[in-house]
Amino acid sequence: MDLFVEQYRGTSTMIQFNDQDLTAKVIRSFETTPDERLKFLLQETVTAVHDLVRRTNPTIAEWNQAITFLTRTGQTCTPLRQEFILLSDVLGISMLVDAVNQPEREGATETTVLGPFYVGEHRPTPHGAYLSNGIEGAPMFVQSRVTNLAGVPLAGAEIDVWHADDNGFYDSQKPDYEQQGPSLRARFVADADGRFSFRTILPCSYPIPTDGPVGDLMAATGRHAMRPAHVHFLLKAEGHLPLITHVFLDGDEYLASDAVFGVKDELVARVELRTEPVLPTGEVISSPWHLLSYHFRMKPGADAVPGPMMSLSE
Ligand code: BEZ
Ligand code: FE
Repeated sequence: MDLFVEQYRGTSTMIQFNDQDLTAKVIRSFETTPDERLKFLLQETVTAVHDLVRRTNPTIAEWNQAITFLTRTGQTCTPLRQEFILLSDVLGISMLVDAVNQPEREGATETTVLGPFYVGEHRPTPHGAYLSNGIEGAPMFVQSRVTNLAGVPLAGAEIDVWHADDNGFYDSQKPDYEQQGPSLRARFVADADGRFSFRTILPCSYPIPTDGPVGDLMAATGRHAMRPAHVHFLLKAEGHLPLITHVFLDGDEYLASDAVFGVKDELVARVELRTEPVLPTGEVISSPWHLLSYHFRMKPGADAVPGPMMSLSE
């Protein structure tokens, strides 16, 4: 007979309901969990959520509203849209989970949220390539270097890059994404000096998706939904911890009030306005352009990227 049933055998006619006993009983119900970590997580979750219910006293209607909200959040998810990640982001939980997993950076580049628009696109792309795929905007050239903490180049590091267009949309949000293919996203492999570069357009600040339950939550609470302009980077190098981060564009009006709390000072970079008629690739350019330079420092450690976070379709 299982341990849980055994614990309560013969007591069924004597059960006097008491909410503290209820919590203890639910916690005990997980004692049989063979995986110690799972047991710990479930018991702590029950403790915290029961405590929350006692502190907030929700009405039945409020509890049903919460269930409906979470149901809608799940129903809004598709292979290209992850409303639960978005919910975790706007509640600051994604940044908190990230923070407790990064106790000491030791000079390595800071991390931030992955966000819901990483769609696992891994087209290897030549250095200096133009990522726009027909999307117009102010020209920007990005030049970057990947090193370890001592400044030694990490040749062969793989760098995934993605960002929004100058209307604030990612390619994967557009109805013609399947036909058009990716734009403003690519993968680079760092050269012998740890360098990579690309030409793109200047991203702008943009709202997180507001047409779902998370948008309703933002509207109901009077919070704005804007994120400051940024470019996403996911870097992997052998023998180093994967680095999930953004580089934010200095001067953006939303740097201090990012809807997902993802900004860290060190990740804000100045974008220089340049007027010379050639890009660093030697390409002739007839209008002024922007130059974004950033040096990524990676920390030694296990190089596996945590699986479930990384793919929206699994
Ligand atoms: C993003 O920057 O792509 C993003 C991050 C978190 C929530 C929504 C969007
Ligand atoms: Fe983004």
